[in-house]
Amino acid sequence: MLLVTGASGNVGSAAVALLASRLGAGAVAGLARDPARAAARVPFGVQLGRADYTDRASLDEAFAGVSALLFVASDGDARDVMKQHANVIDAIAASAIERVVFASIVDVEEHSPFYFAPVYRDAEQRLRACGKPWTIVRCGMYSDFLFSQWLEQACDTGIVDVPAGRAHIAPISRDDVATAAALALESGAHEGQVLELGGAKAYTFDEIAELASMAFGRSIAYRPVSATDYLARCWATMEDPWPHAFASLFASVSQGRFAVTSAGFEQIAGRRPEELKAFLERHAGGFARGSAWQPRFHRDQETAGDHERTR
Ligand SMILES: NC(=O)c1ccc[n+]([C@@H]2O[C@H](COP(=O)([O-])OP(=O)(O)OC[C@H]3O[C@@H](n4cnc5c(N)ncnc54)[C@H](OP(=O)(O)O)[C@@H]3O)[C@@H](O)[C@H]2O)c1
Repeated sequence: MLLVTGASGNVGSAAVALLASRLGAGAVAGLARDPARAAARVPFGVQLGRADYTDRASLDEAFAGVSALLFVASDGDARDVMKQHANVIDAIAASAIERVVFASIVDVEEHSPFYFAPVYRDAEQRLRACGKPWTIVRCGMYSDFLFSQWLEQACDTGIVDVPAGRAHIAPISRDDVATAAALALESGAHEGQVLELGGAKAYTFDEIAELASMAFGRSIAYRPVSATDYLARCWATMEDPWPHAFASLFASVSQGRFAVTSAGFEQIAGRRPEELKAFLERHAGGFARGSAWQPRFHRDQETAGDHERTR
């Protein structure tokens, strides 16, 4: 049995759906803290287990009978996430699981300023040492995240104001990330490989604003802001730890750490990922206001039904 964690989330549910369509609903299972919520997002007939990354016993139970695992990361306070990932990998090591695909991030380097870089570096190191055959897919910035955090509101304001300088990023859609992760899990063909999942092309924020202008049919401009002004804005609008996470993300973006393109994706999927232009055209007007991300990062926003709104 193949098992996908984070089955109530965007990437996990999309990976489950793809595997179920290719192998049949009986060949894949999903894991979630709330299986009822996951059930609304995965095809009928997919078995759903319950486990929490903070609860080692629940993981041991959920991993029984699993042959291959797609491990989707959790999110939040870095220390908590690091402990949760260690828990999952300890449970993998103690299980009969034969191989693991871990969805990491492109930015795990020791000198990276990004808040989450040490978290994912730690998980990758633990996975390599856990004694099970592994594949690491390192995800770039999600196009969906770029859209929901900055481009969607730029439809109203006409401005994308972030501290990215003239750096390039190569966003990739969550669906493409889920596809690559699911195919790597299914095939088992990439054992011991680290594959980077970036978009087809890297863009400056000027170029992204131009693409958004064309897709949304209104003028959108990029206005670079200073790192300190951006941090102050984050402190004014976000709960901990997100000001630090977002500000350090742009410190990392400015160093070109999210410019990795799609060689790893193409190696797994045998095609190029969706172009950002096509992604934006597909989503123009298609999303309800708000996103899966804003309520968790920003104060004073409604949180009900986050996941449902994004699909
Ligand atoms: N590359 C990027 O641009 C980017 C941006 C933001 C985040 N990320 C990372 O990418 C991951 C996957 O993205 P996504 O869009 O699929 O995120 P998502 O929709 O928030 O899904 C995350 C999944 O992790 C599960 N989870 C969280 N904490 C858990 C715990 N303690 N035990 C068990 N499951 C837990 C969630 O379950 P619940 O439904 O129970 O919460 C959910 O199913 C995120 O978790 C985050 O680490 C990447």
